Amino acid sequence: MTTNAELIATEALHTSGVYPKRPLALVRGAGARVWDADGREYIDCVAGQGAANLGHAHPAVVAAIAEQAARLISCPEIFTNDQRAAYAAELTAHLPAGLHRVFFCNSGAETVEGALKFARAITGRSGVVATVRGFHGRTFGALSATFEPKYREPFMPLVPGVVHVPYDRIAALEAAVDDTTAAVIVEPIQGEGGVRVPADDYLAAAADCCRRRGAVLIVDEVQTGFGRTGTLFASTHAGVTPDILLLAKSIAGGLPMGAIVLHERLGAMAPASHGTTFGGGPVVCAAARATLRTLVADRLPERAARLGAALLTRLRAHASPRVREVRGRGLLIGIELKERVQPALVALLERGVLALPAGPNVLRLLPPLVIAEDDLWHVADVLADVLA
Ligand SMILES: Cc1ncc(COP(=O)(O)O)c(C=O)c1O
Repeated sequence: MTTNAELIATEALHTSGVYPKRPLALVRGAGARVWDADGREYIDCVAGQGAANLGHAHPAVVAAIAEQAARLISCPEIFTNDQRAAYAAELTAHLPAGLHRVFFCNSGAETVEGALKFARAITGRSGVVATVRGFHGRTFGALSATFEPKYREPFMPLVPGVVHVPYDRIAALEAAVDDTTAAVIVEPIQGEGGVRVPADDYLAAAADCCRRRGAVLIVDEVQTGFGRTGTLFASTHAGVTPDILLLAKSIAGGLPMGAIVLHERLGAMAPASHGTTFGGGPVVCAAARATLRTLVADRLPERAARLGAALLTRLRAHASPRVREVRGRGLLIGIELKERVQPALVALLERGVLALPAGPNVLRLLPPLVIAEDDLWHVADVLADVLA
C-alpha cells in the first residue's frame, strides 16, 4: 500500500517544478467522486480541469477505450480510420451548418496553434486580436493570445502581431480589427480569466465585425464545450456560427484530444500545411464518440443548465460579505471573493471538496455534469461554511 506521503515525496523528486501541487495523491475516481492514496474521498469540482464533464470512469467511455485499444491503437491521418470518420460525421452533425471540416490534435493549446496558422493561410494577414483576461494555453502561439502578463513576460518575444482588447467591449474590438487582422480569438465565456459571462449579443457582434473586415472569428470552446455551460456548445447559445471552432478538454471523456472545426466557406487547407502524429487516433475518437453519444442521450447539457441555475441561486442567497459576486452559466461557476482565493481552496480540500481558482480572487467550480444533486448542494453548504 502506497500512501499520499510516499507518492508525494516520490513525485516531488522528479517533477519539473512548474505545477504548484496540492497535498494529496489521487488514485481513483467514479462519477464526481475521487479518492486519494490514503483512501479519503472527495467531491471533485475540478473534474480534470474541465476534461471530465462525464465524470470519472464513465462506463460508456471505459468500454469504448477498452474495445478500441484491443482493435487498433495507432493510425495517423495519412490513413482513413473507421472511428475517426464516424466521429467527424457525428460531431459536425451537432454543429451549425457549414462547420464540417475537422483537424484533430491532442490538446487545447494545439487547437489554438493550428487555428492561428490556418487563419494566416486563409487571409494572407498576420494580425491577431485577443482579449484582456483571455486564456488560450501556454505554447508559443497560444501564449501570444493568452493575456496574463505573468505567463507571457518571461518568454518574450512571443509571436508578433497580437493585441489584447477589453473583453465584452464591442467598440474596442471594432477599433482594433482592421485589414491586417487575420483573426479574432475569443472565449464565449472566459474561464481561467475569472468566469466572465459577456453580454448576450457580444459574440454575435464580434462575428459581424470579423465578417465586415475579412477577419476569421476563432471561438475557443476548449473549456465551455460539451455541455459545460448548459448547451452542447456555448456559441450555440449566442446564435453564432464561428469560422473556426476550437474544442478539447472534455471532448474524449478525459483522454487528451483537440479538434479544430473549420467552416466550409474557408475551403480546405493546403496539403502538408499542418500535421501531427497522434491527432485523431482511433482510441481517442472511439472515446469521443462514446462521450458525445452519452452527453446527448442523457441530456447532460440540459442538466447542467438546470443544476447550474439552481446552484447560482443558492450560492447567491447564502453569499457572505467576503463574496463580491457569484456568476457563471451552466456548471461553470465563479465566486469572486474580496480576498485571495487560496485559503478558501485549502479549507474546501480539508472538508473534502476539490475546487479551482480562476485568477487570484475567483473560486471556480467545474463539477462533472453527472454530479449527484445532493453532492452539489453539499458543496454549496460547505462553501457557505468556509466563506462564513
Ligand atoms: C479556453 C481555453 N483554451 C485553451 C486552453 C489550453 O488547453 P490545454 O491546457 O489543453 O493546452 C485552455 C485550458 O485551460 C482553456 O481554458
